[in-house]
Amino acid sequence: MARIQTDILVLGSGIAGLTFSIKAARRFPDRQITVLTKTVEGENNTRYAQGGVAAVWDEEKDNFEKHIADTLDAGDGLCKEDIVRIVVEEGPTRVQEIIDWGARFDKEKGSAEYDLAREGGHSEHRILHYKDLTGWEMQRTLMEEAAKLPNIRILEHFFALDLITQHHLGHMVVRVTPGIECYGCYALNRQNGDIDTFLSRVTVLCTGGAGQVYKATTNPVIATGDGVAMAYRAKGRVENMEFMQFHPTSLFNPAGENPSFLVSEAVRGFGGILKTAEGEEFMQHYDSRLSLAPRDIVARAIDSEMKKRGTDCMYLDCRHLNKDDFTAHFPTIYQKCVSIGVDPMKDMIPVVPACHYMCGGIMVDAYGRSSIGRLYSAGECSSTGLHGANRLASNSLLEAMVFAHRIFLDIQDKLDGWNFREGVPDWNAEGTTEPKEMVLITQSIKELKEIMSYYVGIVRSNVRIKRALDRLFLLYQETEELYKTTAVSPQLMELRNLITIAYLITRSASHRRESRGLHFTTDYPEKLPFVEESVL
Ligand code: FAD
Ligand code: SIN
Repeated sequence: MARIQTDILVLGSGIAGLTFSIKAARRFPDRQITVLTKTVEGENNTRYAQGGVAAVWDEEKDNFEKHIADTLDAGDGLCKEDIVRIVVEEGPTRVQEIIDWGARFDKEKGSAEYDLAREGGHSEHRILHYKDLTGWEMQRTLMEEAAKLPNIRILEHFFALDLITQHHLGHMVVRVTPGIECYGCYALNRQNGDIDTFLSRVTVLCTGGAGQVYKATTNPVIATGDGVAMAYRAKGRVENMEFMQFHPTSLFNPAGENPSFLVSEAVRGFGGILKTAEGEEFMQHYDSRLSLAPRDIVARAIDSEMKKRGTDCMYLDCRHLNKDDFTAHFPTIYQKCVSIGVDPMKDMIPVVPACHYMCGGIMVDAYGRSSIGRLYSAGECSSTGLHGANRLASNSLLEAMVFAHRIFLDIQDKLDGWNFREGVPDWNAEGTTEPKEMVLITQSIKELKEIMSYYVGIVRSNVRIKRALDRLFLLYQETEELYKTTAVSPQLMELRNLITIAYLITRSASHRRESRGLHFTTDYPEKLPFVEESVL
């Protein structure tokens, strides 16, 4: 059981965590920045991003006001307009920064100009991309840049368990306690099984999404909402959790796979058209923007057509597109389709919605400050107010970079004033033994995913939400019993965290008595005339 002091503790090595760490390491060359990551440095949602990063680039055709208007429109009345403006206006500088660090984005054939793509909800071509591997390219760049800085230490296979607050010093801490502060975290070293105590002056949570709370998701298996669950357990504020985004087009693979493979929205921006099995277009019945309407609308349209027809999927028709252009833009998607026997140039691609992005999360302000002192958050686990009730495509990589930068700005003058907290005890594992039956955990995770997928998915209702809450309570009780007597393991902690996430989604959904953005309930199909955040 090691005790490690580090000036800055960063949880997560995706775009948010690494962008922040690089900036902090440069600004404070004498300070130690420790990044914990639950598996390997390069495995996270960032790595799988396909479509690209949205930013106003072509100033002749595009401008900030258009990007702002598109973001607000997608967010369905719940975006914070000042935050949208900040992200859109600061975005291009952050994109230029990662280009300067070595990120490559595709250029137009024979030109020095970037090839800007278009995705659902965007009125202009403004998505910078690297083939259909944009996230991989950005992650590669950040890892290489971080490796140049000797004061960044990246610890792989360290699973953060809980944030340390006054609670661990024996004080009573509830959600309304004023002045809650974070002093670091406890983390499981997966290589030797020890639980180490990390003490920090400041902690930045960049733990990504929670797609694994549903059966079908584009998110890799690390996406179990650990950061949001930890912040909530530490009595931090969490908001807008009912707005879980389903991507309309994950590849329907009858063999089943976790995660589901994404067929980027950029394919529709490139000319792919949504169709029925009979080859008929159907989006005209739902939105005048057809296949390029915002995600919530397209995902609901596909879900509704599948239910009406009793089919397992709908189709994306790319057969009319030029093969050389298609394979140059989407080499990974092309290869993946072929690997399951679908040739996109001859066959329509079978697609189905899958959980993709968590729009809500840890409530933060314009500088990434959470409701807990000395605790910041950026990236998918945070809720900044940019996305509102539905995220606009390719806005999340942008948001992560902008907020990583703003957190870095905010801590500059504060770091010296924060000391390491004394008296923090080691992790207490008294009374726990090794798990005898792992099946108790794996089966509960399966049950949880079923509950969420059937009752709190794309279309909700009061009855479904009540059923989900009742069943989740049972799972919660059983799991807490297990937790009291069982030595912690990543599987047990992920189950606990997923139950918390499921509860937060379902509880927030039960509070929202209207349909807005990604939250659609048959009991309240209309929007209310006023807008409210759902803060828990
Ligand atoms: P992540 O990149 O997910 O990183 C999370 C990190 O936290 C990981 O390092 C993980 O190990 C660590 N972590 C988590 N829990 C713990 C714990 N308990 N202890 C220690 N470490 C922990 N967005 C766009 O803008 N454009 C796109 O084209 C795009 N395409 C996408 C395609 C796919 C298939 C997916 C899944 C997402 C896509 N997104 C896209 C969304 C975007 O990729 C993510 O929102 C963004 O990358 C999240 O970055 P992040 O740094 O917040 O989290
Ligand atoms: C995609 O490529 O369709 C994903 C883009 C995003 O999630 O922003």
